[in-house]
Amino acid sequence: MTRDTEQAVGLVEKIFRDASSLSNYNAWKTVHTTLNWTCDFTKSILHGSVTLQLQRRHRGDITVKEIVLDTSYLDIKTVRIDGLVVDYHLQDRVEPLGSALCIPYTNYTDSITDSITVVIDYSTTSQCTALQWLLPVQTSGSKPYLFSQCQAIHARSMLPCQDTPLIKSTYSFNIRSPYPVVATGLSKGARDFREDGTIYVYEQPVPIPSYLAALASGDLATAQIGPRSTLYTEPALLLDAQRELEPVIQNFINAAESFLPNYVWDQFNVLVLPQSFPYGGMENPNITFATPTILAGDGSNLDVLAHELAHSWAGNLVTCAGWSHFWLNEGWTVFLERKIVTKIHGFEEGEFSAIIGWKALEGSVAGYGSDHEYTKLVQNLDGKDPDDAFSSVPYEKGFNLLYHIQKVLGGPVVFDPFVKFYFERYARAVVDTDMFKSCLFEFYHEEEHRRALNAIDWETWFYGTGLPSRPDFDTTLARVCYSLSERWSHTTSTTEFGRDDVKGWSAGQFIVFLESLTSSSSFTSKDLLHDMASLYGLRSSRNAEILFRYFTLGIKCKSGTEVYRDIAAWLGTVGRMKFVRPLFRGLNSVDRALALETFAKVGMGLHPICREMVRKDLKL
Ligand code: BES
Ligand code: ZN
Repeated sequence: MTRDTEQAVGLVEKIFRDASSLSNYNAWKTVHTTLNWTCDFTKSILHGSVTLQLQRRHRGDITVKEIVLDTSYLDIKTVRIDGLVVDYHLQDRVEPLGSALCIPYTNYTDSITDSITVVIDYSTTSQCTALQWLLPVQTSGSKPYLFSQCQAIHARSMLPCQDTPLIKSTYSFNIRSPYPVVATGLSKGARDFREDGTIYVYEQPVPIPSYLAALASGDLATAQIGPRSTLYTEPALLLDAQRELEPVIQNFINAAESFLPNYVWDQFNVLVLPQSFPYGGMENPNITFATPTILAGDGSNLDVLAHELAHSWAGNLVTCAGWSHFWLNEGWTVFLERKIVTKIHGFEEGEFSAIIGWKALEGSVAGYGSDHEYTKLVQNLDGKDPDDAFSSVPYEKGFNLLYHIQKVLGGPVVFDPFVKFYFERYARAVVDTDMFKSCLFEFYHEEEHRRALNAIDWETWFYGTGLPSRPDFDTTLARVCYSLSERWSHTTSTTEFGRDDVKGWSAGQFIVFLESLTSSSSFTSKDLLHDMASLYGLRSSRNAEILFRYFTLGIKCKSGTEVYRDIAAWLGTVGRMKFVRPLFRGLNSVDRALALETFAKVGMGLHPICREMVRKDLKL
């Protein structure tokens, strides 16, 4: 075997490169991380220490004379190696990666040490991008709140670490806070120190990359939502959220386990956050973080949780080898999510979800331009901020590649065994795009399958820009949406329409209908839209996904000040980037003054990541 094949089949450790980390992860690897933190809500900082247990990677190679860690806007106080205080040097900041923390290490004892313990006392600062500290008015109660969001490269602003998905470590969290705390891992109880707060202990026994380290603290109440699942949220949301989540969570887990290896994380808990959480969901192990906009009252937005659950295999267990291969996390996860949806709701629903995804892919490609680097599946991120590359491309182009492979091989009957094989083979490891492909070829060695695989244009799928060719998804559920959209696009009067047009429609069907009108060149009338909105009750929808599409259409039709003010008001109540960014961009295109005024008003309440993106979008 050549070294390449040995690496591909995992016999020797492959040497990867991650353009998004300054740490020397090929010289050392973190095997365990202990965090001792105090949440200081008056200063809005975390302070305490991190203990990194490091192992030298190339045994016998002592030529590397330093330990380099990622940091970003941290206040470093002291560094100790194996108990001795040592010198360190914090390098100048390099955007967007932060400041490398260099700790000279020339083996302070006489022997060649392969395993060392580094303890760093430090605190976060007001420039921390991973944490958002909320005032009581930004919550639904009367207490302050804190939560983290580390993916992709924000963990380094919360702790000095090897901030790369290439390195996986077990974790212990000891977090002192006046309010209940959740963190990545399993709860090991709490120790009460009266007026000094309580220390909450969490242990993560499965090695995880730094981007999955997470905590939240605030007025958290709990409710059971399944045999392996607890819901955490503020008291005001608790009962409604429990009522909505309880019927689906264990079904999702059962559906996933019916075609994947067993769930290794034990518990699957959910934290429903305050509005400013910038994503739909975040797959923090054992404690998925979710936006409150997943609560629509009728379960229609809960596919987000199927998605985060699917990350328990794709991403959290089998991890992408650097953000250039992010599609291996998200493309796989979308593929698994749609398999879960198909198991529970049937083939037509799975295909319908793929149709919605395709539209998002078209939107992202159109937004970047079809020859842009970020429309590639495998992206060159040298000198780039992974947050800027975030779009539907890794999700939906990735899904479409897997969907295509499944199809040419002969459908789920042939592909399912590979899905299981892949997640077993690479469990607890990291995988890049080449390894994924080799694994596929290794699994399918029969002549007919090889022929099918060889006919795939891998080069274009992996490294080509723009859209792939569109598969023929089943349109059973989408057809009525398209035909109603056609009718509205070619009418001048609203008398032919009635409430029954949308009778029995799912939220997804409203989404497809509204998106179809948004891309129709014939539907531009704000008066028609106005009438449609009252006829179908669009403005009063409790579903944020529907409201967002309605507002997008309102901007397209240049609906005027009344609607723009409505959008501006809504922007004060949601923080999910997927909604906030396009609406700010949209408002900016029709009424820049209002966009700026709105940003001045609500900008400080937005999550730091989201605020920064909107600032860029508005060219401020
Ligand atoms: N891991 C992502 C969120 C993420 C990605 C945060 C990259 C930061 C950097 C999460 O699993 C996700 O994909 N969330 C989606 C859910 C949707 C696809 C169902 C979201 O937030 O919209
Ligand atoms: Zn995801």
